Amino acid sequence: MSSALFEPIALRGVELPNRIVVSPMCQYGSEDGNASEWHTIHLGSLSMSGAGLLILEATGVEPRGRITPKCLGLWSDENEASLGRVLDLCREYGSATLGIQLGHAGRKASVRPPFEGGTPLEPGEGAWTTVAPSPIPFEDGWHTPEELDRAGMDEVIAAFVQAARRADRIGLQLIEIHAAHGYLLSEFLSPLANRRSDAYGGSLANRMRFPLEVFEAVRAAFDGQKPVGIRFNGTDWHEEGLGPDDAVAFAKELKALGCDYACLSSGGNANVRIPLKPGYQVEFATRVRTESGLPTMAVGMIREPALAERIVAEGKADMVALARGFLYEPHWGWRAAEELGGDIVYPIRYGRGAPARWPQAFEHRSAAE
Ligand SMILES: Cc1cc2nc3c(=O)[nH]c(=O)nc-3n(C[C@H](O)[C@H](O)[C@H](O)COP(=O)(O)O)c2cc1C
Repeated sequence: MSSALFEPIALRGVELPNRIVVSPMCQYGSEDGNASEWHTIHLGSLSMSGAGLLILEATGVEPRGRITPKCLGLWSDENEASLGRVLDLCREYGSATLGIQLGHAGRKASVRPPFEGGTPLEPGEGAWTTVAPSPIPFEDGWHTPEELDRAGMDEVIAAFVQAARRADRIGLQLIEIHAAHGYLLSEFLSPLANRRSDAYGGSLANRMRFPLEVFEAVRAAFDGQKPVGIRFNGTDWHEEGLGPDDAVAFAKELKALGCDYACLSSGGNANVRIPLKPGYQVEFATRVRTESGLPTMAVGMIREPALAERIVAEGKADMVALARGFLYEPHWGWRAAEELGGDIVYPIRYGRGAPARWPQAFEHRSAAE
């Protein structure tokens, strides 16, 4: 039995042993952007999950770019040192390649963590001034952002560049730029949030300009042997928003700039109903892969190993990312390996749990088949 999901894949100079990715997941477990003991537990565990690649949560490149006051950041020496310590442990005990998602929350910053409601902070709770392509709140009752001028855009680019250098220094092997879900770069891309009349608004070419500038700057600041990918929306699920044709056009521009992969997600630029079902966003990854030639990562309600396998084997995407699947089963990669006949590295102290070490316990499967 050979598995496409367990075929290695090379992204620039980084070889991943399989195509399973832990999708970035905000933990809201930081003070002043620093990694905490929770990160040691959470990332430590997921670095032993069987996934070839673990992408750390959306990490603020500057304080005002955090979603909440509890978000992870990478703008200070203290942030860099605290995260570096956690990563050292992940590398010592785990096997996943470690990447990070760098982001800026734009007009959706300065809110409470989702488990405290996800609503905008009040001034007395440390609310801050948010920035965006246009001074339009996400919804009634949300902060009205300041429109970024050229100097402000340069500050954001400089913050991405600094964070990329810090990521490189602490040994992160991959950067994913967050341009999805209605955060700053997604806001520039989407006509729902971007009403500018300068060279950064209006046509798709103009709306892509700032995200592409950020991509180019991060690419130039990060080790040339290490991949830089990006996550963006295949659709805003809104008739006036971004759609799959826009995603393909953006991917073509990114490919020309040396982008290593695109992860296709959706939503977040407006409060819309998303038609959820297993693999509901895979079609966007497939279109971008086919029409732009950029390698893609599919994400969204992929839970069963057989579905992940089909996505890769049928050429719908090059990699598969799971978020909630890994919260539910932190060793999901082990189960996938057992069900699909793949090989993974077990942490040495857990080696006795490998199916090959107690095969009788897995006989029910062949008996039931
Ligand atoms: C707890 C949690 C935190 C998340 N944080 C992020 C994030 O930091 N960046 C991001 O791009 N997506 C984030 N997402 C979205 C996931 O990465 C993923 O795209 C989404 O959950 C769909 O995949 P799933 O069905 O496998 O969970 C988060 C999802 C969850 C459940």
